[in-house]
Order: sequence, then structure tokens, then C-alpha cells
Amino acid sequence: MTDYKECYSKYKEEFENVLNAFLSKLKCSPEKFEESLKYSLQLGGKRLRPVLMFSVGDILGVEHAKLENYALALELIHTYSLVHDDLPEMDNDDFRRGKPANHKVFGVGHAILAGDGLLNTAYSILFGECFNGNEYISAAKYICDCAGIKGMIAGQSADLLHENDETIAEDTLNFIYENKTAKLLMAAVVVPSILSGGKYYSELKVFGRELGYLFQLTDDILDVTGSFENLGKSIGKDACEGKYTGVRLYGLDASKLRADLLADRCEGLLEGFEGDTAFLTALVSHVRQRIQ
Ligand code: IPE
Ligand code: IPE
Ligand code: MG
Ligand code: MG
Ligand code: MG
Repeated sequence: MTDYKECYSKYKEEFENVLNAFLSKLKCSPEKFEESLKYSLQLGGKRLRPVLMFSVGDILGVEHAKLENYALALELIHTYSLVHDDLPEMDNDDFRRGKPANHKVFGVGHAILAGDGLLNTAYSILFGECFNGNEYISAAKYICDCAGIKGMIAGQSADLLHENDETIAEDTLNFIYENKTAKLLMAAVVVPSILSGGKYYSELKVFGRELGYLFQLTDDILDVTGSFENLGKSIGKDACEGKYTGVRLYGLDASKLRADLLADRCEGLLEGFEGDTAFLTALVSHVRQRIQ
């Protein structure tokens, strides 16, 4: 592997090209609706899920051309989840990706519609892939299931329902982490496996899940210790909203130790893979180091 950051930028840039090509063709009316759809996608973000998908594709020998539309659909779904997550009746956040949240610019009604539009467009992209054959159908279904009522949406529901609970149980926290966050990371790493004919299917599922737990735990920690400049979103909101977080359950120091454990588990899983896993191993370590 060349330098980790260089490698991450290369995957990210590749995805930005796919996204820009898609955005340049995306036309709809009314004009304000089109703007609201494009706004949150164009604010940037880490593009972690597409980067994961392309890098796992490289390990398994899956051409990026086969993955591009899945990466696009997944980033659209992730972005819709953020637009809705920020709504006043959800997490009530005014900033996202360093800029005013979608509802602060377009109003709550249009932020709901922008989220709906992003989700619907993602499904249309996935249906388009289904004409290519059975494994493409399975890959599309995998994303839908991860995003759906037994996936991200269920996690978001539990996240809301448990706001302001006085006590926290680890299994409930795990349910929230696994569904609201880990499922979309699992989709990112399992789709290339499905398109490769199932290589490392179970192992990648476990890897995506553990990485998802690590990612959400570091997100919870950064909500306490991070800065708006680095994260592009408001800090201290979890405590304000009474969120059910890892920091509340374990405390800050124990959360960091747990993050070490999760990162070790992810790295251990990668050791069992044939092929060049250096980039993914470095990515795990960078996710862990976000909270140094
Ligand atoms: C934010 O996801 C929501 C969580 C799952 C914690 P990201 O941190 O990947 O957000 P962007 O895409 O970089 O904005
Ligand atoms: C968000 O979790 C997960 C989804 C959007 C599905 P958070 O609510 O912790 O994410 P941030 O902190 O707002 O990015
Ligand atoms: Mg939330
Ligand atoms: Mg939030
Ligand atoms: Mg958060």
C-alpha cells in the first residue's frame, strides 16, 4: 500500500467523480426540491462507506465499475439518514458537514422530502443494477435490508425511544449501535463479497459489524471531546438530548479502552484474509485514533 491518506483520497476522489457524474444528470422540478436533494450530498463528508466498498472490492478482486452504483446508492441512503437524523423532532441539530443542516436551509418539510427523495433515488439505482443478474439482485437486497426496518431505521427508532432513559443496558446500546450505524457499514463491505460470488461473506459481515460498533463509539466519544472545526457538527448534543450512548454506559475512559478492544478485534479479523489488507488495517487504526 502507498501512504494511507493518499490511498483514502484516491478512493474518495474516485467516488466523488461517480457522484458528480450522477449529480450533473439529476434534474427535477420544482427547482427548490432539486436544490434540497443536492445540497447535503454536495457538502462532502468522509465518504467512508464508498471507500470501504472500493477497498474491499480490491481485496476480493471485484472491479470498481461493478461497485460504483452500489456505492452511490449507499451514500445516498446514508445522506438521507443524516438529513432526517438532524430534524428538530429527531436529534435537532443545526449543522451537518460543517454547514447548516438541510432543514435550516430548506425548512423541515423540504428536508423530509429531500430525505425521501434520496432514499427513493437510491432504490431506483439499485433496481437498475438488478437487470445484471442474480448476484446483483442479492447485493441490492442486502443494502435494502441493512437500511430498512430491521436495520438502520430500527436503530434510529430505538435511539429515539430510549432518549432520557434513566438506566442504560448494554444489550439495548448494542441494538442501537448495530442497527443505526453498523448495518450500513456491513452493507459497504458485504456487497463486494456478494458480487465476488460470496468470498469471505461471514467474515466481512462480522468485520463490518465490529467496525460499526467502533465507529459509533468513537462518534459518541467525539460528541464529548471533539470540536466543531474537526467534525463539522455540533458538540455536546448527545448529553443535551439525553441520548443512550457508549459514553453514558461505560464512562469516557472505559469507552476509550473498549474502542481499543473493538479495533483489535477488527484488525484480528483482517489477519485471516488473503490479499492485501494493509489499507483496511490502517483505516481501523485511523477510526480508533480519531479519539486520541
Ligand atoms: C455520521 O456518519 C453518522 C454516524 C453513523 C455516526 P459519518 O461520520 O460517516 O458522516 P459523514 O458522511 O462523514 O458526514
Ligand atoms: C446517527 O447517529 C446514525 C444515523 C444517522 C443513522 P448520530 O445521531 O450519533 O450521528 P451524528 O452524531 O448526528 O452524526
Ligand atoms: Mg441520531
Ligand atoms: Mg445525530
Ligand atoms: Mg453522534
